Amino acid sequence: MKGRCSPFALLVVLGSLGRLICAERLGSRGVDNPSPDDFVRRSGHSVAVIGDFVYIDGGEVSSRINGSDPSTSPYDAVNTTLSLSLKESWTNDTVELRSIPKTAPLLNNQIYWTDLTTSSLYAWGGMTNTELSPTNEIWRFGADGEGGGTWSQVTQQDYLDFSKLVRSTGAAFTQSRDRGYALGGEATSTTDSSIQKQTPGYALPGLVSYDFRTGQWSNSSSASYGGYGTSLNGRAEYVPYGSNGLLLFLGGAETPIDATNETIVQVNWNTVTLFDPTTQSWYQQSTTGSRPPTMEGACSVGVQGPNDTYEIFIYGGVSDQIQATSSDVHVLSLPGFVFFKSPSSGAPRSDHKCVVVGKGKRQFLSVGGVDGEFRNHTSPTTADPWKQGLGIYDMSEMRWTNSFDPDAEDYVSPVVVNEWYAHGGLRNMRWDNDRLRDLFVNGSTVTGDEGTSADSTTNSIPTSTIVGSAVGGVVGAVAIGAVVLCIIRRRRGQHTERESTIDDGIPEYRPEPWPKDGRDLQSPMSGFTDGTAVEVSRIWGEEHPAEETESRGELPGCEVGKRGSPSPVVIEGTYELPAPVELPRSELPDRKYTS
Ligand SMILES: *[C@@H]1O[C@H](CO)[C@@H](O)[C@H](O)[C@H]1NC(C)=O
Ligand SMILES: *[C@@H]1O[C@H](CO)[C@@H](O)[C@H](O)[C@H]1NC(C)=O
Ligand SMILES: *[C@@H]1O[C@H](CO)[C@@H](O)[C@H](O)[C@H]1NC(C)=O
Ligand SMILES: *[C@@H]1O[C@H](CO)[C@@H](O)[C@H](O)[C@H]1NC(C)=O
Ligand SMILES: *[C@@H]1O[C@H](CO)[C@@H](O)[C@H](O)[C@H]1NC(C)=O
Ligand SMILES: *[C@@H]1O[C@H](CO)[C@@H](O)[C@H](O)[C@H]1NC(C)=O
Ligand SMILES: *[C@@H]1O[C@H](CO)[C@@H](O)[C@H](O)[C@H]1NC(C)=O
Ligand SMILES: *[C@@H]1O[C@H](CO)[C@@H](O)[C@H](O)[C@H]1NC(C)=O
Repeated sequence: MKGRCSPFALLVVLGSLGRLICAERLGSRGVDNPSPDDFVRRSGHSVAVIGDFVYIDGGEVSSRINGSDPSTSPYDAVNTTLSLSLKESWTNDTVELRSIPKTAPLLNNQIYWTDLTTSSLYAWGGMTNTELSPTNEIWRFGADGEGGGTWSQVTQQDYLDFSKLVRSTGAAFTQSRDRGYALGGEATSTTDSSIQKQTPGYALPGLVSYDFRTGQWSNSSSASYGGYGTSLNGRAEYVPYGSNGLLLFLGGAETPIDATNETIVQVNWNTVTLFDPTTQSWYQQSTTGSRPPTMEGACSVGVQGPNDTYEIFIYGGVSDQIQATSSDVHVLSLPGFVFFKSPSSGAPRSDHKCVVVGKGKRQFLSVGGVDGEFRNHTSPTTADPWKQGLGIYDMSEMRWTNSFDPDAEDYVSPVVVNEWYAHGGLRNMRWDNDRLRDLFVNGSTVTGDEGTSADSTTNSIPTSTIVGSAVGGVVGAVAIGAVVLCIIRRRRGQHTERESTIDDGIPEYRPEPWPKDGRDLQSPMSGFTDGTAVEVSRIWGEEHPAEETESRGELPGCEVGKRGSPSPVVIEGTYELPAPVELPRSELPDRKYTS
């Protein structure tokens, strides 16, 4: 780490309960990219795929110095962005990571959103690994298509809304093609300079979104999520149902705003919560099958199956329920909302990140993670059992493999998943909400480019039966296509009839069209996991004119904590861009969350 010589490294063992450990400094070198033999652990990072490269950014890495024991090997903030080529096959002991110079602040557990239209990666929030809090900035990494790229600070078009946001860590984030979302998270003295409280800080209610095209920020109510509208160390996936996709929230913990170690409770998987950005509606749906134990800090990826299903793979995490760090992989298949447990378990880890890799979208790559001792916050002193902390999982076969195959075949749903649908699983499932069912099985979903709502009583088509048998039977894609066509025709018919009566409280509808099918078009959701994406695609057009103007990062060599003005600007009820003033926010009130 250039110029920084802090005796502390912040190690996120459990995300919300990250602790300060005093890492023994065996010298003043910093290693951003240790050799496979020296690598010990990586944590607090994020991962994204842009084009033919995986980018690994942020967080800390521990490596052996002169053959030091893993338990005494130091953690260092990673001062470069790493990239890994997906053009050729590799194994975790042969693959080489490339270091790309980084001018952005060095932070842990940031929110990452990928804008494939402009081959960029946005990084926001996160916590410092010193006692200092970061400045309120959002940074953008522009990939150059060859495994390199540059960082620059994003000038905010929507400064008013941006300046109101509290910087956090541990939010559940995901994205559509054009918009990033983040639910919850926690704010502490190491994430936002206006907060004095230390870990566990204040849990933030609200669903924040950022429009990559217009630069607009918003923070809508999440009061319908869980007991408090808060979420810590959960995951989110953007799934291709409804008119423009739904956000699905997975695992994590919840707590009243003024969190203590005792108030943080992990959420169970008996139900999952979904959000429809088009209608701003929240839904809950019960699940069945082999549910994972409660979990924080797992990784998740989503992939579309050829039989109209969408599978979400969930690996690892720290679990209160089993009092351990998990090594299991679970699959959640939609629209059945049914879980399956993979017979092939990996190594126990949490705080790792996963992305779908390879053309066929059949494999996921797991990067980094720690195996901390449970909840007593001892440092994860064991070396990662996998070289460089990298693992490859074949999602169709539901097993870990030893190498990455760039030409692996297309993803098909695992056999257990197909069998469940074939045996009428969907017909027998119980929907908790008719409108949600309609979003998933095309009874009367919103279509076209006008906002319309579903009136499930007048428009309920027994499509669950149709879909169930079509998906489950030995019916080819042609037959499914025919069914879908019929449904669409029928729906269009109803749609016109309904036009005048629909409107029940749907706020503005902003079409975010996406190619829902077609192999050439990169489905925007299928590769997005934890704010990352599978492949770059320029098919949606050239650089967008509404792109932010950037100031190239001018801050190399500075200490993170010394950059810029330490105080955020507070603006209340004015719509002018204020001159920055030194006005630290008072701490969030010690209020109790009601209802
Ligand atoms: C990262 O930190 C190490 C140790 O301080 C330093 O040698 C190296 O040049 C730094 N890399 C970059 C890209 O700043
Ligand atoms: C590693 O060992 C070499 C040779 O013994 C020594 O010169 C060097 O200072 C050591 N480095 C550290 C960081 O201890
Ligand atoms: C979003 O709004 C809620 C409710 O006003 C607020 O408590 C929370 O801090 C906001 N989120 C962020 C990230 O600022
Ligand atoms: C909460 O847990 C963390 C991690 O063990 C610890 O550092 C902190 O002191 C605890 N806070 C309280 C209020 O007990
Ligand atoms: C932490 O917990 C593990 C197992 O739960 C135990 O073996 C270990 O001794 C504990 N460490 C400390 C420092 O309490
Ligand atoms: C490489 O990763 C796989 C999981 O994909 C793991 O089973 C294997 O042990 C790893 N190999 C090494 C040498 O770490
Ligand atoms: C679709 O489902 C059927 C019935 O379960 C199955 O036989 C078929 O292999 C599936 N197709 C694909 C491409 O997975
Ligand atoms: C729902 O309709 C869309 C087209 O509007 C189609 O692509 C999709 O396969 C349908 N889903 C189901 C479950 O029938």
